[in-house]
Amino acid sequence: MKFYLQWYARLPSTNTFLKERLAVESNLPSGKVIAAREQTQGRGRLDREWVSSTGENLTFSIFLRGSYDRRKLPAASMAAAVAVAELLEAEGLKPSLKWPNDVLVNGKKICGILSEGISGGVIIGIGLNVNMQNAEHIDQPATSILMEAGKRRDIDELLGKLLKRLSVRLDEWAAGGFFAIRKNWEAKVPAFAKASAGEPDIGKMVTVRDGGTAHKGVLAGFGPDGELLLRADDGTVLSIWAGDLSS
Ligand code: BTN
Repeated sequence: MKFYLQWYARLPSTNTFLKERLAVESNLPSGKVIAAREQTQGRGRLDREWVSSTGENLTFSIFLRGSYDRRKLPAASMAAAVAVAELLEAEGLKPSLKWPNDVLVNGKKICGILSEGISGGVIIGIGLNVNMQNAEHIDQPATSILMEAGKRRDIDELLGKLLKRLSVRLDEWAAGGFFAIRKNWEAKVPAFAKASAGEPDIGKMVTVRDGGTAHKGVLAGFGPDGELLLRADDGTVLSIWAGDLSS
């Protein structure tokens, strides 16, 4: 996969900007990447906002052209999460993945991913905390590479390294969906690694919250497209495609 990177000083949201550009530039190449030094209206999953301080972190979106099956889309974020975790490992950290697509270090969120299906393909938005010095302004436990490793990184250089890894994992996803990245994804999910004190675990009771709805049940595993499988008391298994997972 080849990427065409374009940087902007400030955008409301790189995902929204890409969507708007695609509406007027129908021949935008697959692999177009829009990165912003600052986002003024960064968006997260489940209609949350994504707060990221100017120039300190990576906020960018990738457009991939194609007619992807709706069921295949969630795994695009999971493939991206694998690539981010691999980058962080190379940078000396010990990341873990949390369904559906959070990347955590020491139990705190370091990266969020928001994939959006559009008529001509998919937009994958990635926010990775790099040189953020503290997480006081964020309403959930969050961290950054600087906070974990004590060393600043060059943002542009780091994006170059990340795009190389994304190219490999997104190619795999485009060819084979969740099946193609499943082993690499599971290898970084504590529930599969057995060393998961306090983490949502296979065979244990968990809760998945999606807006006002909370589903409780036993975490039975993940389905063929990366959906979470929750077993209710009566034995029925519910497939869940989005939400916040907690133990
Ligand atoms: C989440 O964990 O809730 C997903 C956060 C996704 C944030 C990224 S930053 C770049 C891209 N543009 C956005 O507005 N959101 C995504």
